[in-house]
Amino acid sequence: MYPIGKPVEELRTPCLILDLDMFQWNLDKMFGFAREAGVNVRPHAKTFKAAAICSRLLEAGAIGVMTQKLGEAEVLLHSGILHGDRNILISQEISDPGKIETLVGFNVAMGEGKVLTSVDCAEEVEMISEAASRWGVEQHVVIEMTHGRCGVAPGQPTVDLAKKIASTRGLVFRGIYGYENPVPRETALERNKMTVDTANMIREAGIEVEIVSAGSTGTYEVTGTYPGITEIEPGSFVFGVGAEGTGYGWRVVNDVYFKPSLTVLTQIIGANFDDRVVTDAGLKVMSGGDRRSDPAVLVKVDGEPLEFERVGLSEEHGTITFKEGSEARKKLRWGQKLEFVPSHCCTTVNQHDEIVAVKDGRVAAVWPVTARGKYY
Ligand SMILES: Cc1ncc(COP(=O)(O)O)c(C=O)c1O
Repeated sequence: MYPIGKPVEELRTPCLILDLDMFQWNLDKMFGFAREAGVNVRPHAKTFKAAAICSRLLEAGAIGVMTQKLGEAEVLLHSGILHGDRNILISQEISDPGKIETLVGFNVAMGEGKVLTSVDCAEEVEMISEAASRWGVEQHVVIEMTHGRCGVAPGQPTVDLAKKIASTRGLVFRGIYGYENPVPRETALERNKMTVDTANMIREAGIEVEIVSAGSTGTYEVTGTYPGITEIEPGSFVFGVGAEGTGYGWRVVNDVYFKPSLTVLTQIIGANFDDRVVTDAGLKVMSGGDRRSDPAVLVKVDGEPLEFERVGLSEEHGTITFKEGSEARKKLRWGQKLEFVPSHCCTTVNQHDEIVAVKDGRVAAVWPVTARGKYY
């Protein structure tokens, strides 16, 4: 459907486009920073969900990837990209025995330590132990130390759970993660201190802590240079963040900037009125970050930003509205193609089967969104 070499403006709309130059710029910036800071990068694959993108990130220097879900980990594990000691860390807790069986099965079929999982309670630890012991394998785990969602309270409660894991059959304790959320610098510093202090308390209890993970796109510099953090786990930097970028919910913190590499190509199908044009990309192909955010941060025409008032989405229509007498509106015509920069990259990617990778205005590759819809 998207022949290689075809000019972008000839593609059938709506479709999801990745500008390879901007994508590479984002990778160079993140991995250049990480090399200098001496911190590992474990990108969060819930953002991009495509094995091809994971592969490019691993090539750029990622030590592995994080996934939110067991199902995402399953797809990426079986895509055969995790060579050598590269691994996957599942960041969401699992409370279902059937899912634990799948997780433990990864160790049986693909070797131990390829897929690590996060735990935050004794029940989960016991459930994993029972399944791993039955199969005769060891499941590698980290503790999620909470900064407001799942997880264990920082300090002694995390130490107590680490002790339990260390003395339970069938488990290997690898470390902790304390995702601090995309917060301003000062808050990130406070949360990083809690994470690192807790890791040190576990060490003082005689337990080795190899992984101390935290950090998002918005805090990659603050957290990536915090002493004691061994790896950062940003996701949306791949598709850009900043005043003109995707991210999620278009929330910009700490002046972080990456280029908006991800766009939805759409076409004007209604142009009868001076105050608006209507395009063929609606809610089914693009999502906003939250109720307060516009679904599109930018609208581009021939690669250049268009001045508009707002973009409103209904199921199959995207309506761009303009101020009275807008010069930008006057330049638009029926049938013209435009690009939306979605305000929430993660949920937008999850709405597509494929990402069309573009170089110099032409299709260079079509990357399947391999872990699309893996919600389990
Ligand atoms: C546990 C965890 N780590 C990392 C991230 C990555 O955040 P970002 O996409 O802002 O880089 C997320 C995002 O929700 C997350 O839940």
